[in-house]
Amino acid sequence: MGGFLGTRGDFIVDLVMTISGFLPFLLVFTFYLAVKGKYLLHKYMQITLFSIVVILVIALEWDVQFGKLAGISDQSPYAGTTELLIVFLVHLFFAVSSFFGWLWLIVKSFKRYPKDFDFNHKKWGKILFFGIVMMAVTGWLLYWMTFAA
Ligand code: HEM
Repeated sequence: MGGFLGTRGDFIVDLVMTISGFLPFLLVFTFYLAVKGKYLLHKYMQITLFSIVVILVIALEWDVQFGKLAGISDQSPYAGTTELLIVFLVHLFFAVSSFFGWLWLIVKSFKRYPKDFDFNHKKWGKILFFGIVMMAVTGWLLYWMTFAA
């Protein structure tokens, strides 16, 4: 199915990009909930966002393996270039580290809550936020180089 962002991307990759564009704002909203003392909502929204990201990554992987995405990406002027490889490696670094970091923070906090945290939850939350934003930004750059340029 064709995409809706006006690029060569298909529906799945456009959907993933759109949601990852909203992700930083949704995360900030969950932090706001925690500031307001709405910890349960904060917790469930974190788990929901993480689950959505997992589903999106699986959908994207499926699209690359079995959809037409691999063929479309060959049409990019950046295909096979060092620039694309560097952006891809930076993206991969932030994607893998934030994915496992996010999962780790959810599991550790889930086990402890509602007892007081015995680690700096807020500090790790903010470090992870930076990682997730970098994952989204480098993902968008990769998308632009592959499907729009
Ligand atoms: C699902 C499990 C989670 C539970 C039960 C939980 C619970 C809490 C609680 C009780 C607080 C207030 C106490 C404190 O600041 O130490 C808090 C604050 C915070 N949480 Fe979580 N959290 C969870 C997951 C996450 C994740 C995965 C992130 C980041 C990606 C995160 C980011 C934050 C931040 C940044 C604050 C501080 C907000 C502020 O006061 O500025 N939390 N959380």
